[in-house]
Amino acid sequence: MTSRRVLITAALPYANNHPHLGHIAGVYLPADTYNRYLRLVGIETIFICGSDDHGVPITISAQKENSTPQEVVKRYRAIQERGFSSLGITFDHYSGTSTCEGHQELAQEFFHKIRERGDIEEKVTDQYRCADCDMFLPDRYVEGVCPLCGANDARGDQCDACGGAFEQDLLIEPRCVTCGSSPQLTSTRHWFFRLDRYEERLEEWLESREGWRDNVRNFSRGIIREGLPARSITRDLEWGVPVPLKEAQDKVLYVWFDAPIGYISFTREMFKERGQEDEWRSWWSDEDVEIVHFLGKDNIIFHAVIWPSMLLGHGDFRLPSSIPANEYLNFKGEKFSKSKGVGVTAEQILEKFDADRVRYYLTAIAPEGKDSSFTWEEFIQRNNDELSDVVGNLAHRLLTFTAKNFDTKVPAGAESSAFHDEVLRVVSSAREEWSRSLERQRFREALDRVVTLARHGNRIFDAAAPWKSRKTDPEGCGGDLAALLELVHAVSVMLLPFLPVSACKMAATFSEAAASPQESVMELGKVCQLQAGATLFPQGILYPRLELLDEEEESAS
Ligand code: MF3
Ligand code: ZN
Repeated sequence: MTSRRVLITAALPYANNHPHLGHIAGVYLPADTYNRYLRLVGIETIFICGSDDHGVPITISAQKENSTPQEVVKRYRAIQERGFSSLGITFDHYSGTSTCEGHQELAQEFFHKIRERGDIEEKVTDQYRCADCDMFLPDRYVEGVCPLCGANDARGDQCDACGGAFEQDLLIEPRCVTCGSSPQLTSTRHWFFRLDRYEERLEEWLESREGWRDNVRNFSRGIIREGLPARSITRDLEWGVPVPLKEAQDKVLYVWFDAPIGYISFTREMFKERGQEDEWRSWWSDEDVEIVHFLGKDNIIFHAVIWPSMLLGHGDFRLPSSIPANEYLNFKGEKFSKSKGVGVTAEQILEKFDADRVRYYLTAIAPEGKDSSFTWEEFIQRNNDELSDVVGNLAHRLLTFTAKNFDTKVPAGAESSAFHDEVLRVVSSAREEWSRSLERQRFREALDRVVTLARHGNRIFDAAAPWKSRKTDPEGCGGDLAALLELVHAVSVMLLPFLPVSACKMAATFSEAAASPQESVMELGKVCQLQAGATLFPQGILYPRLELLDEEEESAS
């Protein structure tokens, strides 16, 4: 096997919100599923995340809560970590940009290295300043009309409606977020990253990427072709990584400059904690490592244009191999937003349903190519129609039948039958397609492949009618059953990346009869995996049908 290593990151959440299902479906769940899949097939990975602690989102939250940025960060980081882990989203390291050892130094090193190349320039510019609040208003401290699309609620330097990013002074009808008054442009000195110097290399790099999602490639290509303006990477703020220059007192690096560097500093911190001080470097600079950033579509410009420019400017690290960006998951026609009270948080749904049910539905409707919508009825329905009636039902009827007629053991007699060969052919082609979809980060398609295999299993079971052949041809009946058990075993293994708890339980049915799940996935061609005569351990009903609870019914109608 050629060595292949994959470094997976999930966009660092701002440490000021409860993770909601929109974040989970778009970023953290696909990243976790991808990680689990790669490990299952024997590929070495690391999975890195942590909180995005700096910048205006956090200082605004602190101001609203009458507390400090440090306190806000500490509280939300714990909430986020709990939310992720309760959904089985398992990082190798979860850190934070304000606490990670060495993060500040690394961010300052990026600044210096890019500046030494002459790609950071200094300019005196006009920035909004609120006289009533006696402060400069960076980024989200100002709101107004988007200069690009005309949307009403663009935030300082970024517009959610069109995904555009721009310099603040272009904002139309600006207002101070804190007090509502209209701010005045006032001159101040800032440092700008000359992105225009990277256009050619970026374009070349983008063109050389294979298998990328259209949304990422087209969006980035469009932006680069329009020409990249120099972007200011410093702010008049107290909270953040200090700009490492004497003449920049009271200024910090723009949060989007320091945050992605967290991917690297967190990796370094993790290996240091493991006592492998130098190991991080090879993950960020060796050619055999694929670097994969999972994120939502509002982050594309930062990961596909600005971050690669920063990496080129620094010079020691490799550019991302792929940037799977998702569209949005909506709730009743609106984007999920805890602050606007739209949608459901991880915590809320987990009070009532198991994590795997949530994982199932969120993957089944993953907003991969376009936006999708969460509804409570569909959540129940997909779980019942697919997990309960197809997957759970197949396992249950097969195992009940085996228990009754074959002493809960894998029946013998499968090897030579044409039926068995046919079933194995179906299983192995399903596995190949499953694997191909997962390699291409098409999680929805891969999951669908597994359910289709189980549906097929139910059909073959009906057609084979072992309850009839049991008396007339017990050996043939046993052989058919053994073949179908192979299929269920394959289903359980293929579900592992998606549904870690319940699929593991399902696979435990075969713990004595099968090789380790890992081996069985890798050896796709191997004919018979279950050992005749081995004892099975039925796990009862794996996916009982769900019902809508009163509250959801109300909110569903
Ligand atoms: N905090 C940002 C957001 O929630 C994402 C930062 S991703 C990183 O939109 F690359 F900067 F780390
Ligand atoms: Zn004000």
